[in-house]
Order: sequence, then C-alpha cells, then structure tokens
Amino acid sequence: MKKTITTFRQAKMNNEKLTMLTAYDYSTAKIMDEAGIDAILVGDSLGNVILGYENTISVTVEDMIHHGAAVARGAKNALVVVDMPFMSYQTSAYDALINAGRLVKEGHAAAVKLEGGTEVCDAIKAITNAGIPVMAHLGLTPQSVNIFGGYKVQCRDEISARKLINDAIAVEKAGAFAVVFECVPAKLAALVSNILTIPTIGIGAGNGCDGQVLVFQDMLGMFSDYTPKFVKKFADVGSVMTKAFSDYINETKSGVFPAAEHEYKISDEIIKKLEEELK
Ligand code: KIV
Repeated sequence: MKKTITTFRQAKMNNEKLTMLTAYDYSTAKIMDEAGIDAILVGDSLGNVILGYENTISVTVEDMIHHGAAVARGAKNALVVVDMPFMSYQTSAYDALINAGRLVKEGHAAAVKLEGGTEVCDAIKAITNAGIPVMAHLGLTPQSVNIFGGYKVQCRDEISARKLINDAIAVEKAGAFAVVFECVPAKLAALVSNILTIPTIGIGAGNGCDGQVLVFQDMLGMFSDYTPKFVKKFADVGSVMTKAFSDYINETKSGVFPAAEHEYKISDEIIKKLEEELK
C-alpha cells in the first residue's frame, strides 16, 4: 500500500514505529521498497557516500533532482522524501518554494526535508501552503558543519536543549509533518517526542523517537571513511562486495570466467564455413 504523510500521522497516533533509510538510486530503492520500508530519504548525504565530497555543502538542486527521480522510479509504496540542499532554501521563503517545487516536479519527491528550526519556519510555511509536505531536521544539521566545527553530539547543555524544544514546537506549528533528530541525547529526544503531535525520526537520538533513519551505506558496511557511534551494521555488504570484485578479477585473469554456461551458441556448421572462407 502506498505510504503517505497520513501513514506518518497514523503511526504516531497508534504508537507504531516508522522506518526510513536513505537511497540514491533505482535498484536500491526497489529492494528497500520490497522489504517494506515506510519512507526513503534521498539525503544530501549523497554528497558524502555517492559523490565522495567531504561534506554536503556542494550538493546541488540538480544532484537531488537526478537521484530523487531515480529513487522515485524504484519506490512503488515508500514515501519518497528528497533533501533540499544547502542554499536552496536559506536565502528566502520564495527561493525555498521554487526549489521545493522543482524537487517535486522534476525529482518526483512526495515530500522535501530541510534543516533548521525557527529560522526556516517561513520556508516551511511557504512550501506546505503550496501543498508540498515538509520534514524538518534538528540537532546536528550537517549543512551547518562549519558553524558546529565538526560532526558532534548536539543539545547537551540546558540552553541548547531548550532551543531544540522551541525549534521542534516551531517547525510543528509551521506545518512540518515530521522532524528528524540527529545526534541528540536519547532522553531529550524522548522527552520532545512525547510533547510533539508529529512523529520524530531519530538518527543517533535513541529509542524514544517515533521512528529511525540510517544512511544505507552505513548500515550495510559499505562506507568506511568514518562510522558514527549510532550506526549499527546490519550486514557486512562491503566485505561481500570486496570478495566478489576480487573473485571476478582473479577468475577473469585466469580464464575461469566466463564459463560455458555464460556463452551464447552458434551452430558448428556456420563456424566451420566461416573458417574455410577466412583461411
Ligand atoms: O542526508 C541525510 O542522509 C540525512 C540523514 C542523516 C537524516 O539527512
């Protein structure tokens, strides 16, 4: 059954956990969708795990459209949420609306996600008023890495914990249908989850959130540049891939691959005739 923001609303009301994973391409989205995931996030983390950038700052609207459309083709049931990249919504509510519109029309997003609290509420209002659902993102917001001075746990002191609460209430009031909490202490995330009416989706924010999200390369052991503490490796696909690639190299070099079962046939008679002619 097609998942929508109503699925999110009902899950919160029924106290059912929501599941979200990132994906950036058709084949991965299709596998996740078939596994029954609620939502697929085309995260701007594609800057790190797909494009090999140091951070998400350089990701463009065009990148998000390109990967969003690929994921949307593979996701029959999951809600496809596409990240608004750095500087596509911070400049004005008008720019935010235009770029969110492009992510929906060209990138086939069913919803968009943007980072920030009170400072992006005008953008959230403008986008939702135009009929585009918005997922908010608080705590560690990677597009502000240069302000944070690295990827660190957020909201540990009283002032920043209070700010998280105020921002979460503000994005809910502005119309966000859900909010991601990234790298937030578990007890604080649980407390805020209990006061919000919209679902909270945690990544490094503990079990008290209404759902969870992970970057798929992290949970499959396919990204080794760095692994945050909150990542659980559900399978070591990275090692499986390394072994398969080296088996392919060895078998190709030694002539074991391709074997007879991988070949297409032609009659011996035709080959014999051609051989005679080419002598
Ligand atoms: O870009 C991304 O993958 C994200 C998740 C970490 C939530 O925003």
